[in-house]
Amino acid sequence: MEDLVRIRDLTVRFHTYEGVVYAIDDLDLDIRQGETLGIVGETGSGKTMTALAILRLIPYPGRIESGSIVFFDKGLRSELELLKLSEDKMRSIRGCKISMVFQEPGSALNPVYTIGDQISEVYLLHQRQELGRQAKRRIDSLLGNGGTLAASIKRPFWRWQSRLYNKIAEGSNPLEPRILSHIPLFRRLLWRLKDEAGLLTVSMLKDVEIPDPDRVAGRYPHELSGGMKQRAVIAMALACSPELLIADEPTTSLDVTIQAQMLELFRRIKADRGASVLFITHNLGVAAEVCDRVAVMYAGRLCEVAGVEEIFLHPMHPYTKALLEAVPMPGKELQTIPGALADAFNPPPGCRFHPRCPSAMPTCQHERPKLKEVAKDHMVACYLY
Ligand SMILES: Nc1ncnc2c1ncn2[C@@H]1O[C@H](COP(=O)(O)OP(=O)(O)OP(=O)(O)O)[C@@H](O)[C@H]1O
Ligand code: SF4
Ligand SMILES: [Mg+2]
Repeated sequence: MEDLVRIRDLTVRFHTYEGVVYAIDDLDLDIRQGETLGIVGETGSGKTMTALAILRLIPYPGRIESGSIVFFDKGLRSELELLKLSEDKMRSIRGCKISMVFQEPGSALNPVYTIGDQISEVYLLHQRQELGRQAKRRIDSLLGNGGTLAASIKRPFWRWQSRLYNKIAEGSNPLEPRILSHIPLFRRLLWRLKDEAGLLTVSMLKDVEIPDPDRVAGRYPHELSGGMKQRAVIAMALACSPELLIADEPTTSLDVTIQAQMLELFRRIKADRGASVLFITHNLGVAAEVCDRVAVMYAGRLCEVAGVEEIFLHPMHPYTKALLEAVPMPGKELQTIPGALADAFNPPPGCRFHPRCPSAMPTCQHERPKLKEVAKDHMVACYLY
């Protein structure tokens, strides 16, 4: 499988008054075309920062200190070095080629606009050509209407509209709509684009299995349940048919039955659309349900990456083994990982897991283990291998 995103030597640090936080340290990770890659790890391991680095949205006072993130754009058939793109170009990629679903759906929705308006806005912003095509198709079907008097009076106007929408569909930015949008009497001539966006919105809400999508499109976020809000956010993220969908703990704030439905939805999205999904979770059970490959992170570094079955059946890194041991099971005594999480300001030298590792050796305390392939498609960073 070919790569969609290739991250190399990514380092992210936060320069705070208390000191420097080593959030991500020399991370190498690939996201392949059409796969669901899971990132798992305890709190503070750098999962969210990895996702935000791809979108170049690391919050202040954090910054990407070095590294490279290459995005292989399928549509344009080109390689884009995301860390070197202009902010304008990056804005056209965010929410369009790469979109993100956050843990708390409420934070992604604007409380003063209806769900339908918010999703339509994405179409109007990023899918104008598609809207133009749809509008032209609809006008052309009117042009083919029979010879009633009303139709023959309106026909020249329809022809003009068809030409206008054709220009929009071709990607040009014609002068007429820009002028018309400033004249109140004529502004409604352009409503057809909005109407088309509304139709696509309802169909997208249906696609994410929202019952009664027409009604929900007219609702405000506070009128929806948590699960419905999360579905609306997913619909918004999918509106532009992204090549990469990043989901950061999208099920954590939902109850268990809704979680299961949501995981099923993610599985279907991948199967139907062929998009790649970067699925961030601290729950290994969830990762087992949806992911094709799993990357395990600890204190800003990658410990292990392998196919989902391989990682569950043959975990190699002591941290991965400890995480699997800590998964609660009926009839099994609850296990925790001994020791405390690495201090983000002053991480342990060498292998960052060494203070908690039962197999630690003297080398582990001062030399960083490199990630290497120890079995087919199974990478581990540990001196035991
Ligand atoms: N605004 C900030 N200022 C300082 N440090 C930050 C900030 N945001 C994140 N960090 C630090 O960056 C590191 C990585 O954080 P990140 O949010 O990526 O962790 P995570 O794996 O997503 O954890 P969680 O499971 O809790 O979401 C942590 O040590 C965190 O303390
Ligand atoms: S490198 Fe050493 S300390 Fe780190 S996980 Fe492997 S054995 Fe444990
Ligand atoms: Mg996080």
